Amino acid sequence: MIKKRDNILFFIPILIAGIVILTTILLLFQLKQFGASYIKDAEEELNVDTKQALWIITPILKENNFKKLDEYCQELKNEKMRLTIINKEGQVIADSKTGISNLDNHANRPEIKAAQTGQPSTTIRYSNTMHSEMVYHSEPILINGEGYIIRVSVSADNIEKMLKKAEKNIILIFLIGTGGVILLTLYIFIRVRIPFNKLQKSTIKIASGNLDTEIYVPKDGILWELARAVDIMSKQLKRQIKNMKKMENFRSEFIANVSHEIKTPLTSILSAVEMLDGVETENIKQKKCLKIISEQSNRLNRLIQDILSLADLEKKQIFKNRDFAELSINSAVENSVSLCKSLAEAASINIIIEENTSIKIFGNSYFLEQAINNLITNAVKYSQTDKIIVKSYVENNEVKISVKDFGIGMKKEEAARVFERFYRIDKARSRELGGTGLGLAIVKNIAKLHNGRVDVITSPGNGADFIISIPII
Ligand SMILES: Nc1ncnc2c1ncn2[C@@H]1O[C@H](COP(=O)(O)OP(=O)(O)OP(=O)(O)O)[C@@H](O)[C@H]1O
Ligand SMILES: [Mg+2]
Repeated sequence: MIKKRDNILFFIPILIAGIVILTTILLLFQLKQFGASYIKDAEEELNVDTKQALWIITPILKENNFKKLDEYCQELKNEKMRLTIINKEGQVIADSKTGISNLDNHANRPEIKAAQTGQPSTTIRYSNTMHSEMVYHSEPILINGEGYIIRVSVSADNIEKMLKKAEKNIILIFLIGTGGVILLTLYIFIRVRIPFNKLQKSTIKIASGNLDTEIYVPKDGILWELARAVDIMSKQLKRQIKNMKKMENFRSEFIANVSHEIKTPLTSILSAVEMLDGVETENIKQKKCLKIISEQSNRLNRLIQDILSLADLEKKQIFKNRDFAELSINSAVENSVSLCKSLAEAASINIIIEENTSIKIFGNSYFLEQAINNLITNAVKYSQTDKIIVKSYVENNEVKISVKDFGIGMKKEEAARVFERFYRIDKARSRELGGTGLGLAIVKNIAKLHNGRVDVITSPGNGADFIISIPII
């Protein structure tokens, strides 16, 4: 997720960098094209100049009149273009800009070398004579069997200077653009990405239940407002959760107190009923009433016991490990099974311990046995089959205790709710069987007390497999 966000965050600097690079390349390319087209124009102009010069020079050279040639060159002295006539040995015989005495042998000049092979040629190079960049065009001619080279050139200094300057400017623009991109990236990194990650980390911590985490609020910048809003929200949430916890504690305590108060008179009623049970009576009405009182007060007693059990478990969640000791899983399983034996036998159900791990864990054996008991009792009461398979084993660093029956099972949406307090699938049937709907809620709390959980694998008609999982530390 962070990677995706980074992609979005750094998209703009990457885009700008791309534009800067592309623009630089385009400008440089354009500049090269411009230079090339200028040279081409100059070349065409020189071509025309050469033709004109040839028209005049050819008859002069035919006469071998070097004086006249020199005079003609002198006439061109103030022209932009320079005319040079060279013999086949590379000796300059006339030049419009300088006296021939100043000029060395030109045989090694590239444009002369090319023309000596019989081909007209154009070159751009720095001229030591003219002290500037020049475009040269030279053509070989044959007069009276004697070979000459006629060379026409113009200065390319201005354009070269302009091109160099433009190139410098383009590189400057590129450097400024690159600097801007680096600054922007740094800004995003320091002022957006780092605070964003810090804010995200603190909110994730709060979301995972660590309510005391301080929300990171940057001093200023674009995230300030958002971070402040999250901070206020988290503080309000904290207060609300604290209030809810307080209310929940109050509720549990109240229920526990009421249950305790009911327990004392109920015990008296139960012992009175027991006493009456021993008294012989022929009165059928009395017998019936006594039976109802006995059944219902026993049921009430179980309910009170379950409520007190749940309240006790909830209190214990806060002070985990308080009554914990080393316990062996196989004896907890065996004790629970033997406790349910008579109930199962009465329903003609066979309880089979298929697998029983000898691992020892740190826990509360009284509660763990109660949890297994509740699962087996349910299987006996609701499954309506002839066998129940109990297993305990270690898997993925967890102890698993499974109670599996092959009975009616339940629907997905029912399975999702059976661990709620007082939830019963078939209320009438459950009541008839003496159920209060607290058994699985107790199992869930016991698993939680051991940092574990309880799951059910079931579908209608395919039985139910309740599995308690407790992590091994
Ligand atoms: N093995 C099972 N097969 C089918 N239904 C089941 C099974 N175990 C539980 N149930 C259903 O889940 C409901 C809730 O079970 P739970 O143990 O919490 O309550 P109870 O058995 O009704 O009452 P209590 O256990 O408090 O006496 C039951 O009423 C029953 O409808
Ligand atoms: Mg039950």
